[in-house]
Amino acid sequence: MTPLERTFCLVKPDGVQRGIVGEVLRRFESRGLKLVGLKMVHISRAIAEEYYAEHRGKPFFPGLVDYVTSGPAVAMLWEGENAVVVVRKTMGATDPAKAEPGTIRADFGLTISRNVVHGSDSIESANREAALFFKPDEILAYDRAHDAWIQG
Ligand code: RTP
Ligand code: MG
Repeated sequence: MTPLERTFCLVKPDGVQRGIVGEVLRRFESRGLKLVGLKMVHISRAIAEEYYAEHRGKPFFPGLVDYVTSGPAVAMLWEGENAVVVVRKTMGATDPAKAEPGTIRADFGLTISRNVVHGSDSIESANREAALFFKPDEILAYDRAHDAWIQG
């Protein structure tokens, strides 16, 4: 069996306002990923600037910080084989106009500056982002009866 990975996902404020939180959860659950952390957060500017530190200085950075701090968001941690790539592929390309139909961003988005979800782009990013949003005791370890049917 491939080692399990853990990845971080955020339903951005537009996703919360538009009532897409349940749809995002459903898509990851349906793939067999295991939810190990979940919380609603209103991201501060300081956390947003740290979270998107890699984009500091780019033209879209101020708008991006305004966007992710504009209202409540939902932070999730998902665990499973290849979780980082699986979550990114389920979300689709950054720009919803270029995302494949069937992905979250294509099915629920129209423009790059309102693209509904975020997902970690590597295991290192996932660990960094998980630590920004979750305390260790907010990440739960548990078994599911059907895991053997998903992970083989
Ligand atoms: P994310 O970090 O949000 O999961 O998105 P990503 O990896 O697919 O894309 P990334 O390059 O990390 O960009 C972060 C977010 O910045 C906004 N963005 N706007 N206006 C623009 O050209 C532009 N480029 C990026 C998007 O909200 C993107 O998700
Ligand atoms: Mg990114």
